[in-house]
Amino acid sequence: MPSLQVCERCGHELDELSSASVCPECGGLLELTHRFVAGADALRSAFSARRQSLRGPDSSGVWRYRELVLPSIAPAQVVCHPEGNTPLLERSPVSAWASIERLLMKHEGHNPTGSFKDRGMTVAMTQARRLNASAVACASTGNTSASLAAYAAHAGLPALVFVPAGQVAMGKLTQTLAYGARTLVVRGNFDDCLTLARDASAALNIQLLNSINPFRLEGQKSIVFEMLEQLDWSPPDWIVLPAGNLGNTSAFGKAIREALEVGLISHAPKIAAIQAAGAAPFAQSFHEHFEKTIRVNPETIATAIRIGAPASWDRAVRAIRETNGVVASVTDDEILEAKAVIDSAGVGCEPASAASVAGARKLRAEGVIGPHDTVVSVLTGHLLKDPGVLVKYHQEMEPAPKYANRPIEIDASVGEVERVLRPSS
Ligand code: F0G
Repeated sequence: MPSLQVCERCGHELDELSSASVCPECGGLLELTHRFVAGADALRSAFSARRQSLRGPDSSGVWRYRELVLPSIAPAQVVCHPEGNTPLLERSPVSAWASIERLLMKHEGHNPTGSFKDRGMTVAMTQARRLNASAVACASTGNTSASLAAYAAHAGLPALVFVPAGQVAMGKLTQTLAYGARTLVVRGNFDDCLTLARDASAALNIQLLNSINPFRLEGQKSIVFEMLEQLDWSPPDWIVLPAGNLGNTSAFGKAIREALEVGLISHAPKIAAIQAAGAAPFAQSFHEHFEKTIRVNPETIATAIRIGAPASWDRAVRAIRETNGVVASVTDDEILEAKAVIDSAGVGCEPASAASVAGARKLRAEGVIGPHDTVVSVLTGHLLKDPGVLVKYHQEMEPAPKYANRPIEIDASVGEVERVLRPSS
């Protein structure tokens, strides 16, 4: 049964196959509403049966949940890598650092292009091809552009990306180029890029695949569904995630709402959205009870979330309110320390992702997260996305930071190796 696209602001309804990027009546963002037919038990067994599949959409950690993502889609229409199927990890050095006994990490860096964006992109690209789009575009701090470039190549669609000049991590920019997207480096920040991408897409009839596109959020909901399934449908107390443009926070809120509605879970986990202190308009607004929308000039080492005017503001507010959640911010130093702890535990993630563990630690220290709470921190991107930050941290920063692991240059002799291994007295 087809779903509807409903304007979040005025309630105007559009067909599932409308290509409008925002509400044609009032400019509000659109949200998909599905009609759920199957009950929780039937859904659980369908999800679990599809796990046996070795190829095609059933083997995707997004499309396995298709009744909750895009029920009307025929598997043959799906543009799928596959993606998802990311691990839920537990590592004692990370739990000890955060002082949280049961701290799990949902590692979205294990996706095909190394970030959670692939989960939204498979759905948005499937929809773009279904609508016979002539080209696709996005503004990005780097991960969305890498993902869009890869999925556009797969779908056979021309791709156009807008990225802020000098503010995209090397792994992400080079991926985007390698996958073949036309890459426009804009003199401005992410917020300028998004405004330009929105205007250019409307003027030139290009399908915009930023997270204001409701199909992106449908795919990103699967992070929550997959995590719940990995926990045998027993929700954690907290889901902690880094927040920039607020698409993912909104997607998590919708996933929890729908999981409750169909009876997959009986109570909601709380969402904790974590921003970088230099790019924290949502955290500031939370402390003022979301009385007003705040805009800032963003600055942080975590370039993925260097965003001052988040687009999915209202729906993210709803996600925090409905789950009785919180929004917090962490400094760049806290992000770097969390990242070093995650990296040296052999897990690894990019700087923005580490904000989720730094945030969990802070909320635990403040008593917001309880000592026996189960916490899932979402690691949104892969370690190798941002080699520049790693080089600085381990090889260049003076004085050496706490976890810096300096390389040691030696002559090619066993004596030299022995000297290095000798305990220093
Ligand atoms: N973590 C990473 C690694 C990201 O790349 C992003 C967003 C976020 C967290 C925040 O998610 O925007 O939904 O609140 N990256 C976007 C991009 C902006 O263009 O790749 P959000």
